[in-house]
Amino acid sequence: MIQLYRASILHFVSNPSQTEKESSYEYWEDGLLVVKNGKVEKVGKYSKLVSDYDAFAVTDYSGKLILPGFIDTHIHFPQTEMIASFGAELLDWLNTYTFPTEKQFGNKSYAEKIAKFFIRQLLLQGTTTALVFGSVHKESVDAFFEQAQKHKLRMIAGKVMMDRNAPDYLLDTPESSYADSKELIEKWHGKDRLLYAVTPRFAPTSSKEQLAKAKQLLEEYPEVYLHTHLSENHGELAWVKELYPDADNYLDVYNKAGLVRSKSVFAHSIYLSETEWSTLHNHDCSVAFCPTSNLFLGSGLFNIQAANKHKVRVGMGTDVGAGTSFSILETLQEAYKVNQLRKAFPEEGYEHEPLDTLEAFYLATLGGAKALHLDHVIGNFEKGKEADFVVLDLASSELLEFRLNQCKSLEEKLFVIQMLSDSRTIEQTYILGQPAL
Ligand code: GUN
Ligand code: ZN
Repeated sequence: MIQLYRASILHFVSNPSQTEKESSYEYWEDGLLVVKNGKVEKVGKYSKLVSDYDAFAVTDYSGKLILPGFIDTHIHFPQTEMIASFGAELLDWLNTYTFPTEKQFGNKSYAEKIAKFFIRQLLLQGTTTALVFGSVHKESVDAFFEQAQKHKLRMIAGKVMMDRNAPDYLLDTPESSYADSKELIEKWHGKDRLLYAVTPRFAPTSSKEQLAKAKQLLEEYPEVYLHTHLSENHGELAWVKELYPDADNYLDVYNKAGLVRSKSVFAHSIYLSETEWSTLHNHDCSVAFCPTSNLFLGSGLFNIQAANKHKVRVGMGTDVGAGTSFSILETLQEAYKVNQLRKAFPEEGYEHEPLDTLEAFYLATLGGAKALHLDHVIGNFEKGKEADFVVLDLASSELLEFRLNQCKSLEEKLFVIQMLSDSRTIEQTYILGQPAL
């Protein structure tokens, strides 16, 4: 089956912060995206390609912008109903809001209801792939994967492993977390477009015995991911030091446990030393930049210059429910502001260039795919990739339309879209070439 979409089309072929900017993307003002059986067949200039497809109808999105589907590299599905909870920083917020909310996810039908709602929120915002925390209950992950499978989504998720420093009702044990994770891996990893991430919550809620079980899972299933939190908040850092006095730094807790490897994704990663950045680079790890969450909990200002300097893979994370939006575009707005605010802290010693606009859109698409080691199947419109994409309505608000009319260059336009778009801007989200909404 062939489908044709006419629109302005943008995608990235490399990282604009690491290569020549001009060669990092391709853009067709009047473009055509050709999808064959759910995969990208061709992309290019409309006038050049259209004559090859006389027999097929064109879906006309002229004046709108098609981008690859957005990629969220860190989000918690059981925290959907507690997004926007008032007045706490990380450790209080976990105890006050998060743990009582996550308790409910041992109930499969409840988890199912929230999974449906959660996936709809992602699709409404143009997000087509995410790396997702479940709760400690294996039922939560079953519920999530079942719904993701129904929508034919490419998703990564895992059951939280946590055996200490949380209410009893949320604790597993090293053995039970191993057995439940193993069962979920066998059931879901590689099924359709679904993949598994071994998911210890963070160092304070796992014993060394449990981290050893996580390592055992990664050894038995080298293709699965490792997904956890790292260096988010000052109180957390002090606690990790107390709990793991032998570790040289926070990342070293995970490193000593054998969890620092390619396909390890560390959310937040705000307060890292040069040594930690080098370790992340040397082990080919990824980090998730979660600006709305980091601002909302008052956690701190992620240093993207440091990540780039050390050539560490970075993706954008909404981190709902500490994050305040499911939208990757809104997350990019806050990323820009976080980077601006870092100028107020010159003692860090990094140069503070504004966050480059092309880089922002790269992070939301191909950069996210690379951070999740999925750039062989998603992230841009290279032939053969899975045709997940989003259509942006550039006249979705009077202000956006008016402001875009003042723009002369593509970069200027993209920056205005980054800063002024909202959920109305997402006209449609496509999964494997089919409308998802
Ligand atoms: N650290 C440990 N658990 C969590 C969580 O649920 N959210 C965030 N933002 N940080 C965490
Ligand atoms: Zn998180």
